[in-house]
Amino acid sequence: MHVVGARPNYMKIAPVMDALRGDSRVRQVLVNTGQHYDESMAGGFLKELQLPVPDRDLGVGSASHAVQTAKVMMAFEEICLADRPDLVVVVGDVNSTMAASLVAAKLLIPIAHVEAGLRSFDRTMPEEINRIVTDRLADLLLTPSRDGNENLRAEGTPEAKIHLVGNVMIDTLRRHQPLAGLDRIRDRIPVAGRPYAVLTLHRPSNVDDRATLGSILQAVRQIASRMPVVFPVHPRTRNRLREFDLEGELEGIILTEPLGYIDFLALTSHARLIMTDSGGLQEESTALGIPCLTLRENTERPITVTHGTNRVVGTRTEDIVNGFEQAVGAATPARMPELWDGRAAERIAAVIGRFLFE
Ligand code: UD1
Repeated sequence: MHVVGARPNYMKIAPVMDALRGDSRVRQVLVNTGQHYDESMAGGFLKELQLPVPDRDLGVGSASHAVQTAKVMMAFEEICLADRPDLVVVVGDVNSTMAASLVAAKLLIPIAHVEAGLRSFDRTMPEEINRIVTDRLADLLLTPSRDGNENLRAEGTPEAKIHLVGNVMIDTLRRHQPLAGLDRIRDRIPVAGRPYAVLTLHRPSNVDDRATLGSILQAVRQIASRMPVVFPVHPRTRNRLREFDLEGELEGIILTEPLGYIDFLALTSHARLIMTDSGGLQEESTALGIPCLTLRENTERPITVTHGTNRVVGTRTEDIVNGFEQAVGAATPARMPELWDGRAAERIAAVIGRFLFE
C-alpha cells in the first residue's frame, strides 16, 4: 500500500509502482491523503505521471500540523484495519509520510521509507521531525545517497534495515526529459532565446517571515535586472505575499501559477540558474547540471553541494547576489552522484520483493 499526499510525493512513487508492476506476486494499492488538493498541486501530477487513480482518497486538506497529521492518521488507520496491507510504502518527508508511518507501526504493519536517512540537523524544519520519526519506525530504509546511510548508522539503525538504492526522483526526471522541450511553455513564459533564472520559494522559514521574504525578494530584484527571473508561485507563498503587502516587490519578475511536472522540467532544464528553498529542486538541478542557489541556511542533501551544482547561500540579500555572481561567473564543475542513474526504482522493487517473499 503506497501513500502519497503532497506535490513532491507523486514523482517519487510513480517509478516505484511501475517497477513493482513487473512482480506478479505483488498487488498494489494507492492511497492519496489529499494533503495537497489543488489541480496544480496534486491531481494534475497524478495524471501527468500516469499514476493510477488512487484506490482511496482521504481528503484531509490543509490544517495546522497537529490537525493535518491527526486527520491522516484517523482515516489511514481505518483503511489499514480494513485492508491489512503486508507493507506500507511512504516517500519523502511531508506530514502524510510521518502520519501514515505512525499508524502502520502501531498496527505492526512493516514500513518501507523511500528517501530515508536525509538530515538537515535543523529541527525548526517540520520535515526534519517527519524524517526522524519515519526513519525510526521504518523496517526498510531506502536511501538516495551514502550520507543517508551514515546518518542512519550514527543514530543506531541496524545495518540490515538500510539499503542504498539511489535517487528515485531522478528516475522520473530522466523518463520525462525527452518530453520537456522549451516549446511547451513558450506561449506562457516569455524567456525563449535569452538566459534566464528560475525561482521557487515555499519553506515556512522563508515565506512566513516578512523580513526574510523581503530580503530574498530584494536580491531577486537585483538579479532580475541582469537576467529574467521566472517565479512559479506556491499557494502558501502567494498568500503570504498578499498578507505582507509585498506584491510591489515583485516588479520585473515573471510570475506564473505553479506549473505541471513536465512544464516545470521544461523551464528548469533550459535555465541558466535555479534559486530555490525546495529539497527536490536541489537534486534536480544537480541531475540537470544547472547551477543552483539554495536560499536556506542548511541542506539535508549535502551531496548536491559536494558532488553537484548546489551552493547553500542563506537568505541575506548580499549573500544571494554574491552567490549569483559566482554561479554565473564561472563553470560549476559537477559529478553525478552515485546511483542517480534512473534505475533506483528497480532496486527498490528488488529490495521489497526480497523483504516480502524471501
Ligand atoms: C508541504 C510539505 C513540504 C513540501 C511542500 C511541497 C509538510 C510539513 N510540508 O508544504 O515538505 O516541500 O508541501 O509543496 O508536509 N495550499 C493550497 N492548495 C494546495 C495545497 C496547499 O492552496 O493544494 C495552501 C494552503 O493555504 C495551505 C498552504 O498552501 O495552508 C500550505 O500547504 P501545506 O500542505 O500545509 O504545506 P506546504 O507549504 O505545501
